[in-house]
Amino acid sequence: MLITFEGLDGCGKSTQLHRLADRLQRLGYRVTIVREPGTTPLSERLRHLLLEGPTDIVPLAELFLFNAARAQLVETVLRPTLEAGTIVLCDRFADSTTAYQGYGRGLPLELVLTCNRIAVGEIEPTLTFFLDVPVELAIQRHGIPDRMERAGPAFFERVRQGYWEIARREPQRVIPIDGTRSPDAIHAEIWEHVRPHLPLEQAL
Ligand SMILES: Nc1ncnc2c1ncn2[C@@H]1O[C@H](COP(=O)(O)OP(=O)(O)OP(=O)(O)O)[C@@H](O)[C@H]1O
Ligand SMILES: [Mg+2]
Repeated sequence: MLITFEGLDGCGKSTQLHRLADRLQRLGYRVTIVREPGTTPLSERLRHLLLEGPTDIVPLAELFLFNAARAQLVETVLRPTLEAGTIVLCDRFADSTTAYQGYGRGLPLELVLTCNRIAVGEIEPTLTFFLDVPVELAIQRHGIPDRMERAGPAFFERVRQGYWEIARREPQRVIPIDGTRSPDAIHAEIWEHVRPHLPLEQAL
């Protein structure tokens, strides 16, 4: 089972991912944590390029670089780990590319979705938590901006609205969560969504 965490930088993805991982591990589940872009050596190098690299990466190049990192992650980590029955928690996944490169940068949505589909193949998250916070709060929580974040508030408004579009289109998979509440309250809500999907045989 693949569970992904989405939303603006600073929305609380990593906080919630680690809380869920801890709880699952305490119950005896095997859990693997991955992040996008990144995790594999190649994908981490691409992450560095994308987040700290030259400022003149054109949107189409960005789309391909994110999906190159993703293809490497899917093939070498996600598919084998999921096939082994391990629960995988992923900090960002293909929806990030739809939200940022599609809605944010304005690349044609069909192109972005096609490119994402090529990179992920048959891998699909069972659940995706979209942690929604206002842009100002995300920026405030996040601190020093990286290359993507220097794009400005209007860009992030489009990304945020993009995530809402994605959630509206796939309501069974994508769960919008009010990320302005306490970490405890958010975790409790996430847990209620995850619980029904847990494989029984692994639990203690
Ligand atoms: N629900 C919350 N309420 C208040 N502060 C929070 C909450 N969740 C996380 N934070 C704090 O906000 C900051 C960003 O949280 P976190 O790193 O989990 O977000 P993120 O979405 O993973 O961001 P990034 O994109 O930078 O990795 C951290 O300092 C964290 O402690
Ligand atoms: Mg994080």
